[in-house]
Amino acid sequence: MTGPARSPRGSVRHLISINDLTDEDLRSIVARGARFRAGTAGPERPLAGDVVGIYFRKTSTRTRTAFSSGALRLGAQIVSYGPDDLQLNTGETHEDTGAVMSRMLEVLVARTAADPGELRMLAAQDRMSVVNAMSADEHPTQALTDLTTLLGHFGRIDGLRVLYVGEGNNTATALALALTRYAGTHLEVRTPPGYGLPDEIRATASAQAARGTATLCERHDMVDLPGNFDVVYTTRWQTTGTSKPDPNWREIFAPFQVTTALWAGSPNAIFMHDLPAHRGEEVTAEVLDGPASIAFDQAENKMHSAMAVLEWCRRGPVAGS
Ligand code: CP
Repeated sequence: MTGPARSPRGSVRHLISINDLTDEDLRSIVARGARFRAGTAGPERPLAGDVVGIYFRKTSTRTRTAFSSGALRLGAQIVSYGPDDLQLNTGETHEDTGAVMSRMLEVLVARTAADPGELRMLAAQDRMSVVNAMSADEHPTQALTDLTTLLGHFGRIDGLRVLYVGEGNNTATALALALTRYAGTHLEVRTPPGYGLPDEIRATASAQAARGTATLCERHDMVDLPGNFDVVYTTRWQTTGTSKPDPNWREIFAPFQVTTALWAGSPNAIFMHDLPAHRGEEVTAEVLDGPASIAFDQAENKMHSAMAVLEWCRRGPVAGS
């Protein structure tokens, strides 16, 4: 693997970006997620006595439920905050908010609004772990879920060929940063023109791939697709439910709809989707509800992966995981 040798953090573990994880951290969280899914993680309740804050300023079905249910299953108690609950809304700073919460919570799982810097400000204390449950720029716990799903399905991640079709959004960003750490993987990204991966993410992921044996290719069309993919992956076109300023965006996205035609060159590929889905937009119902789709197993894995993230926050990487 090709990630940072040392995590840029103190004794408290934060997960705000995939880039915060060492290769050991990443492998451990993914392996533990697969073990929680398989029921072989052990009978311990590693978060017994802990209190986990669940703060969501944006809507969520999977991630919020996954971390809430996961924390409870690990023995923690939870405190939930909606978008209107904290004094952040009346002007208290993120740093003060984090400092106060850190005296009462062991972990804060937060989905913020537009500014990814909010999470770093909440993490500017040395007592409480902060987990990014999706910010505008990155969705790291989705990538951990996705790798957990790949490991559970294929028994390996090394060498897998993944075709990502759709917007270069926060899910795509996290996937690119995570998958390119694994040897021999190929990530083919097909994004609509003007809606690609952020330049700095493509550069970071490409450099990471080049240091190892992974490859990353991004194009803005759907022609000359290579074949033999193990996975076809898409996400909804209106990330976080927000519409796009360009009135013609649907015409630009239309060629990137995932249909069964994509399976012509990859007959054994599975289909993944981070959900929620809009059948008839980014993917046809035939694909999402068809035999190749593991999207709902993937959704369940959000909870198993959340448990692995919470365990890592409190205990660090599990030896031999
Ligand atoms: N995939 C995902 O993050 O789903 P939610 O928005 O429902 O949490």
